[in-house]
Amino acid sequence: MKLSPAKSIRGSVTVPGDKSISHRSVMLGSIARGTTEIHGFLEGADCLSTISCFRHMGVDIENKNGVVTVHGKGLRGLSAPSAPLDCGNSGTTTRLISGILAAQDFSAVLTGDASIQKRPMGRVMKPLREMGASIEGRDDNFCPLTMHPSELHGIEYRLPVASAQLKSAILLAGLYAEGQTTVIEPAPSRDHTERMFRALGVEIETNGNVITLEPPEDLHAVDIAVPADISSAAFFLVAGAIVPGSELTIRNVGVNPTRTGILDVLRSMGADITESNFRDDAEPVCDLTVRHSRLHGTEIGGAIIPRLIDELPVIAVAAAFAEGETVIRDAQELKVKESNRIAAMVAELTKAGVD
Ligand code: S3P
Repeated sequence: MKLSPAKSIRGSVTVPGDKSISHRSVMLGSIARGTTEIHGFLEGADCLSTISCFRHMGVDIENKNGVVTVHGKGLRGLSAPSAPLDCGNSGTTTRLISGILAAQDFSAVLTGDASIQKRPMGRVMKPLREMGASIEGRDDNFCPLTMHPSELHGIEYRLPVASAQLKSAILLAGLYAEGQTTVIEPAPSRDHTERMFRALGVEIETNGNVITLEPPEDLHAVDIAVPADISSAAFFLVAGAIVPGSELTIRNVGVNPTRTGILDVLRSMGADITESNFRDDAEPVCDLTVRHSRLHGTEIGGAIIPRLIDELPVIAVAAAFAEGETVIRDAQELKVKESNRIAAMVAELTKAGVD
C-alpha cells in the first residue's frame, strides 16, 4: 500500500461499533433470560472470538444482515464446552469470560493465540480465587487457564491497576456470588459493564471509585445499539486536527466520559472539536466535528490514563505534529497489551523521523 499526503480531509464518516460494548453485549445477552438483538456490533476478530466462545457453551447466536441475535440461556444455562475455549487475540474475551467461568458448575479451559498466552492473568486469578474460584494457570499467571466448578462468595477488592477488564471479571463473577461484591478502582476505568448491568436490571451502585453489586436472580435481555467506537474515531480526529484545511464529522460516536480522555487531550493541545446531536440511551452518543488547528505539546498522566489507554499510540502521532514537547507518564499498562505499544510507537515514529 502506498500513501501520499492528503491536501485536506473533508466530509463525514461512520466508524465501526465499539469493541468493549460489543463484547459485553454478547456476554450479557448469553447469560440473560430472553433474546438480545445487537445493532452496530463490531465484527472484528476479537468480538467474533467472544461469539465463538459462547456458541461453544451452547448459546444460539445468529449474525445476519448486520444484526447479531443472542438467544440467552439465563444466568445458570451455559453448558460445558467440549474443547478449550479459544479467545484468539482478545484480552477482553479472556479476562471477562474467566469471571463467568469461575462460577459455572462445569470445568472449562480458556486459551488463545501466542500473544494471549503471554499476557498476565494473575491479576484476575487472584480476586477470583478470593471469591472461592478454583483456577489453574501456566506458571500461575498465564493461559491456558483451567477453571473448575466452585461456589463463589462476594468480596471487597481494591484493584492494583485501573483495568476495566479486571473490574469486569470480578463484577461478572459477582453476579453468581453469595452476598455483595465491591470493587474499588484506583481511577475510573470504562464503565460499560456497570451500565449494561443496570440496563439488564442488576442492582449496582457506583460511588466515586467504589462499585457495589447485589447478585440478581436473573438478567432480563434488552436490545442493544452499539455506538461507534471512539477508539476508532480517534484516528480520524487526529487526522482532521493535523491536516491543514480539514473539516471532518464522525457520526454516532460513543462519548461515555470514561472513554473521552482523547477529546480532553486533543483540546488541551489546541484541537478544535465540537459535539452535536447528543443523545443518551444507556451510553451517551454524539457526532464529533474536528477542524484543523495548530497543535502544541502537552503533559499526560495520572487518572486520565485509563480514559485514553487505547488512544495513546495515536496521541503520540498528534504529539509528533504538535509544536513543542509532549510528555506521557503512567502508561506502563501499554506494555502488556497484545503487543508492547510503547515499543511499537517508538520504533515506527523513529523511522518517520520523530524524536
Ligand atoms: C477494555 C479495557 C482496556 C482496553 C481494552 C478493552 C475493556 O484494557 O485497553 O482494549 O473492554 O474492558 P484493560 O482493562 O487491560 O486496561
